Amino acid sequence: MRDERWDKLAKAADAVRARLAETPAVAVTLGSGLSDAFGVPDGGTRIPCSEIPGFPAPTVAGHAGEFWAGRIGRVPVLLQRGRAHYYEGRSMDDVAFATRLFAVLGVKTLIVTNASGAIRPDLSAGDLVLITDHINMLGANPLRGPNLDELGPRFPDMSAAYTPRLREIARAAASAEKVELKEGVYVAALGPSYETPAEIRAFRAMGADLVGMSTVPEVIAAAHAGLEVLGISIATNLAAGVNPDAMLTHDEVIETTRRKGAELKRLLLAILSRL
Ligand code: HPA
Repeated sequence: MRDERWDKLAKAADAVRARLAETPAVAVTLGSGLSDAFGVPDGGTRIPCSEIPGFPAPTVAGHAGEFWAGRIGRVPVLLQRGRAHYYEGRSMDDVAFATRLFAVLGVKTLIVTNASGAIRPDLSAGDLVLITDHINMLGANPLRGPNLDELGPRFPDMSAAYTPRLREIARAAASAEKVELKEGVYVAALGPSYETPAEIRAFRAMGADLVGMSTVPEVIAAAHAGLEVLGISIATNLAAGVNPDAMLTHDEVIETTRRKGAELKRLLLAILSRL
């Protein structure tokens, strides 16, 4: 039986390919506020998501919803500015659409960035954190339903979803750039409410160091499709209850992202130059 999800992806990929000068080797997903911090590199091609047939348009304020394709250094890159979240009410197929599109286009490496709350006590607001693994607490998985055999297997291994080789490269880039890069496990919570202090204590007991509302569906879809993945998070705030006197606000998340965005950009450029 033909899977209409595959037809939709193939059509979207044809439309994007028609505007690309070459196959991108690396896709970079820029999370909350980071699209602004990263800016649009010179040259290249901007592709608004609204011009891609079948592409789910982002709805959250502050998410640009476009791709930029071009070279950064020697590397053909596809930047994703703005992403879809499950809390918006979208289907998992919509949330994973961009990642699958990358795979169909021939992208081999996915770099995902996000903003997160810091659970582990030694983490501070503003820390850059290399994601070593994740815990999926979304209660949903983008691979549920008939398997897209064109992309990958029914039961993909997740033992090394955050590619060890890329983590090594990120560590080397951070040390060369004198950027402090901590490491941690990311748990995806559904949101859009922030977590309660009791939930954060539970996540900590489970082994999570960071909490956020994105990334995990994309990484599962990427691992399924055989992409190598690197994940970097900006811990924008202490998670709920970590500082009992503090309240969480989206403004703090955006403010920290802006403050640390340039440093993350420098790190990303150093990583790209080593790929
Ligand atoms: N919780 C969930 N998502 C987040 C947080 C948080 O504390 N900070 C940034 N994104």
